[in-house]
Amino acid sequence: MRGFVVLLAGASLFACAVEQSNEDSLEGAVLEDAAVTFQGADYGDDEAAKVAHGERVSKVLLCTACHTPTLTGTHMGNFDPTLDGIWASNVTRAVPDLTDEQLETLLREGVHPTRDEIYMMPSKVYQKVSDADMAALIAYLRTLEPTGEPTPLTKLNPGLAEARAAGQYPTSAEEVPLYAGNHPPDPGEEYALGRYVATVNCADCHGPQLDGEDGFAPDLSQMVGTYSDAELVQMLTTGEAPGGRDIGLMSFIGANVTSHLTDEERADLVAYLRKLSEDKMAAAQ
Ligand code: HEC
Ligand code: HEC
Repeated sequence: MRGFVVLLAGASLFACAVEQSNEDSLEGAVLEDAAVTFQGADYGDDEAAKVAHGERVSKVLLCTACHTPTLTGTHMGNFDPTLDGIWASNVTRAVPDLTDEQLETLLREGVHPTRDEIYMMPSKVYQKVSDADMAALIAYLRTLEPTGEPTPLTKLNPGLAEARAAGQYPTSAEEVPLYAGNHPPDPGEEYALGRYVATVNCADCHGPQLDGEDGFAPDLSQMVGTYSDAELVQMLTTGEAPGGRDIGLMSFIGANVTSHLTDEERADLVAYLRKLSEDKMAAAQ
């Protein structure tokens, strides 16, 4: 867990280096309007199915990775002193004070109704979550019983305040425009589900177009070349890499986050990444 949080802090620090969207990436489908969702979003009027879907969405969208599996929150400084003062809130206590609309604005835009600045929440990718997945997530959050102590407000420690003053520690809201209209490549309709998973999950750390974040997470189109499809499925289900190699944070994500994808979502994701890799190799020839 320690490495997880340390690296997440790194992710935020590197976010500033992300290039603004360019013409090419805008040609891709506008994900915000697409009907692509995680499987199970066809819950219709079935409230129980909607809540169950929302619970799974809270796992695959990393909420439980930061806010703990019970969503009762934690002090990030416990894991890494450089994050002293940052609290991943007790979501079970926070939700009753927020309307559905305020929750959606917080998640998609990084804007909180009563706090000036929100850090670390990946609104940059949540802005691209489908409406059906978002509605289910919020319905699920509403079912949580307030549990545990309310968490203190976040206050940046001197080190982070200094980084922020130097323009190196953006708020969640400041990261949103870096990803708006800046999507992973779109090789066509048949890859839509795999691309959606990559867009709302992998892109958080591997960059808006999945070609890596300098010094943090590698270019996925290159990385998949070192895996067979079966090995990639295995890694994204258990966190285990071929030969038992140590893959740091990705091992935690595989075991605790992508393990909650459906088999079809995982298979489509692997097919999508394979296609990206093939297209890149073909373009280089
Ligand atoms: C990378 C870590 C991370 C992830 C992933 C994450 N959060 Fe957060 N979240 C935080 C932190 C840190 C704060 C407090 C931010 C601050 O005060 O600057 C926060 C704040 C919140 C709040 C506001 C709480 C309050 O006190 O008003 C809610 C609600 C929330 N998160 C829900 C979620 C949900 C739902 C998800 C998944 C869709 C999620 N978060 C994903 C780190 C994360
Ligand atoms: C919270 C951040 C985060 C998320 C989300 C994430 N990754 Fe990663 N990933 C990393 C980091 C960091 C590394 C580099 C780990 C290392 O080598 O220490 C990595 C490495 C990898 C590797 C290479 C592992 C190796 O063999 O060296 C693959 C493949 C990978 N990620 C795939 C994915 C896919 C697919 C997704 C989306 C389902 C994803 N990642 C989501 C952070 C993340």
